[in-house]
Amino acid sequence: SEQTFIAIKPDGVQRGLIGPIISRFESRGFKLVAIKLTVPTKEHLEKHYEDLSSKPFFPGLIAYMGSGPVCAMVWEGRDAVKTGRVLLGATNPAASAPGTIRGDYAIDVGRNVCHGSDAVESAKKEIALWFKPEEVQSWKAAQFDWIYEKP
Ligand code: GTP
Ligand code: MG
Repeated sequence: SEQTFIAIKPDGVQRGLIGPIISRFESRGFKLVAIKLTVPTKEHLEKHYEDLSSKPFFPGLIAYMGSGPVCAMVWEGRDAVKTGRVLLGATNPAASAPGTIRGDYAIDVGRNVCHGSDAVESAKKEIALWFKPEEVQSWKAAQFDWIYEKP
């Protein structure tokens, strides 16, 4: 089933939001298959956000993302990329609906607490950038027989 890369940004970690954010993905029915706390290097972040390198906010974004530990995760489940983005909410918290992570915990687009892959292809690229293959676990959660309708 589909995997997505989700990261709790340094502001989310500093504000004690690792637990609440993980809780939302767990309770929605997604399965955690990889997790680590890491301070990403500038080179690593420039690769992660390479599509945004021409944006005026790029240097600030790289500095922000490297300013402390990031909680990097891989979550798995049906439509994990698309539904993961729904859980995060709109990029700019001014437009994020209440009930979403950014809509409940953020107010500034430059401190928006979390990252989520925007497409299946970018998820694959990001997972490979942040994790070694052996750091991503394959496991069956017993509760999933109750989360998905039987085929
Ligand atoms: P990510 O999940 O972090 O990739 O966000 P996104 O996919 O919702 O948005 P995008 O990839 O376009 O931008 C990446 C990140 O750059 C955003 O999450 C913001 O933290 C930051 N960003 C985007 N637009 C702006 C902006 O106009 N100003 C500032 N300061 N930061 C921005
Ligand atoms: Mg993005």
